[in-house]
Formats: sequence, structure tokens, C-alpha cells
Amino acid sequence: MVATAGDSQAAWAIALRADLEALPAEQRRRLRSLQPSGPASLRADDSGSDRAPLLDLASNDYLGLACHPRIQHAAATAIGRDGVGAGASRLVSGSRPVHAELEQALGQWLGRQRVLLFPSGFQANLAAVQALADRHTLVLADRLIHHSLLVGVKASGARLQRFAHNNLDELQRRLEQARRDQPQRRLLVLSESLFSMEGTSPDVGHLAQLCARYGAALLLDEAHALGVLGPEGRGLGHGHGDVSLISGTFGKAFGSGGAFLAGDALVGDWLLQHSGPFRYTTALAPPLAAAALAALEWIAAEPQRSTALLERARRWRDRLEACGWPRPEGDGPILPLLVGSEQRALALQQQLEQAGLLCVAIRPPTVPAGRARLRLVLRHDLPSGSLERLLAALGKP
Ligand SMILES: Cc1ncc(COP(=O)(O)O)c(C=O)c1O
Repeated sequence: MVATAGDSQAAWAIALRADLEALPAEQRRRLRSLQPSGPASLRADDSGSDRAPLLDLASNDYLGLACHPRIQHAAATAIGRDGVGAGASRLVSGSRPVHAELEQALGQWLGRQRVLLFPSGFQANLAAVQALADRHTLVLADRLIHHSLLVGVKASGARLQRFAHNNLDELQRRLEQARRDQPQRRLLVLSESLFSMEGTSPDVGHLAQLCARYGAALLLDEAHALGVLGPEGRGLGHGHGDVSLISGTFGKAFGSGGAFLAGDALVGDWLLQHSGPFRYTTALAPPLAAAALAALEWIAAEPQRSTALLERARRWRDRLEACGWPRPEGDGPILPLLVGSEQRALALQQQLEQAGLLCVAIRPPTVPAGRARLRLVLRHDLPSGSLERLLAALGKP
């Protein structure tokens, strides 16, 4: 029997329904609207207008720039000058002076020859992997890398091997084996400078050295580190020339949206000439480019903010540990409080919200079973007394 259009529609609907029905109730996600309501606070639409806003311990706006007047003013001015959207791809008629200005300023700040902007970090990662890998390439990726990088590997057709999180000995064994098997093969290593669910960082200097020794390209996702970690917030890849390509996003410490790739002139030119995710997409909206430029100027002028944030992160880790909680790994502004079961993580999230604190439970499948956690995120504009509020709301471990 020949399938009709109606039958094939039914087939996709049946497949989607089956997937949704197989999803355990506790893993069903829902969207919740939250309205910024003063520094580091958000008001939930479902909590009643008489409830106090929630202290934001969940967003990645590490430097509090999303609602900073200077950044808002830069975006508003760009809307007046350039319009809201760019109206076309960078290669058609969408390039504005603010794009070139931002690319040059970032290149200078990061010490990289070429920077190209993308509408999102997801897209930038896709482009980056496609630039550095083809179907003959072997990709060696940290087990916990971001989903967008895995999608990039799939799109490139490369073969994928994963190494245990931040385990550079295992990476070295795999690189050695790969070189022994095929001395001329293209190799690509993927890692992040601050892992968003773990709060951990690799030894980037050692990682870059290993890649250079075995002739592997290195793509470092600096999404969570830029503005916060490394010399004056320039990321952990800063000063390591052996990092082939850096990806960064403006959606976190920069407080807006959009992203970039930074590398040498060769990879920059390849991306410009060949990258589908760069060529076939509307250019980054001018107000976002202007906001990112203003954020960059702010970050470059006030490096002491990131130092103060890291100092606060160390104090929070010390106090949590002193109160009997497992010390959150790493030393950046992401503090994962490991609590074990999914139920306990959800109960603690609710308990904190009752006390006016917004902090999200991260559960399987985002993290392995038995390693559910509260993901505490620190930011520069938290009011004093926030740590005491948190400790009181958490109660005894
Ligand atoms: C490590 C990492 N890389 C890339 C991205 C994607 O960035 P964007 O939000 O700009 O798409 C994210 C954000 O979720 C991320 O956490």
C-alpha cells in the first residue's frame, strides 16, 4: 500500500507522542517567566505579586551587566542608529560598523588575529568544529563538553572519542595511540575553560602543550570563563598561542546575547569563506553587538570586579564546607552543591525558593544519576548578607 501524506504525518506524530509518553513525569520541563526586579533579583510570574522577588543565584549574568545602565544605553543608542535587526547576513547587507568595531576590540583584548561574530554560542560552536574537523578527523572530547560541540562533531562526520572529565593523562594516551595508528590524521581536541555544571577547569597550559606536541588542533569553549577567569577576565586560553580557536558567548558575563570565534588569520578567513553557520544566518542584531562592545569596555576598564567575584566565590566555598556541605569543586563563580538524589535536589530547590532564593536543581539526564546538584551561581551585584541567607535556607546538610 502507498503511504499518503496523511499517513506520514500520523507517523511523525506517533513518534513524538511515544517519546513524550516515555518521559518520566519528574523529567518533564516547563517554562517559567521571571522578571528582573532590581539588582540580582527576579520576580516569578507564578508566585503572586505580594511575594518578594527572588535573589538570583541561577543566572549566568556573573557581572550583573544585563541590566547595567551603560549596557542598556549602548543597546538603545544602537537601535536608534542602526535599527533593531541587521536585515541580512554579514555577507549580503547585514554588516554594520559596530560589528567590525566589536571584532577588532575583541581581537585586541584576547590577543587573537581574527574574530568573527555569530548570533549564538551554539551556532559558533557548530561552525568551529566544522572548521577544524572533517569526516576523516578524529575528535577527542572531554566527556562533559557542551551539547552544541557534540552537534558540531556529528555535523562534521568526524569520529568521536571521549576522555574522562579533565583527565589529561587519558587524553595523552589517546593522542599517542591516534598518532601511532595514523601519523597524518587530522586530530581535534575539544574542551571548555569553565564547565558549567561542574564549576571545574582543565589545566589549559598543559592541554595546549599536549595538543601542540601531537599536532592536534584545540578548540576551547570559553563561554563561562570570559569576563571572569584568566588575566583580567580574558579567559584561561589567554596567552596560550597553541589554542587554535576560542569560542565565547555574550550571553553570560557580557550580559547580552550573541557570540564569537577568535583565532588566527587563516582560520578566520576559512570561516568567512566557507562556514555555513556564519554565512547563512542574519547578522548579530546591532543592539546586541553594541551592548557587547560596551560590556567589553566595562570589563577591560574594571578588571577588579572579576577578582572580587572570585574572592567571593572562595569565601562561599569555605563557608559551605565549614557548614558540612561538600566543598563545590573549582574556583570560579559556579558552585555545584552535590546533594545526590534528584528528589533531594528538587526538595532543596523548593526549600530555597520558600526562603526567597532562586537556585536551580540540575538533574539527570543533564548530569549522571546519583549526582544531582544545586547549581549556585555567584554574581558581582549580590547584596551583602546573601551567603548568610543561603546558609540559613539550606539548613543542616
Ligand atoms: C559551555 C557553553 N557553550 C556554549 C553555549 C551556547 O551559548 P549561547 O547561549 O550563546 O548559544 C553555552 C550556553 O548554554 C554553554 O554553556
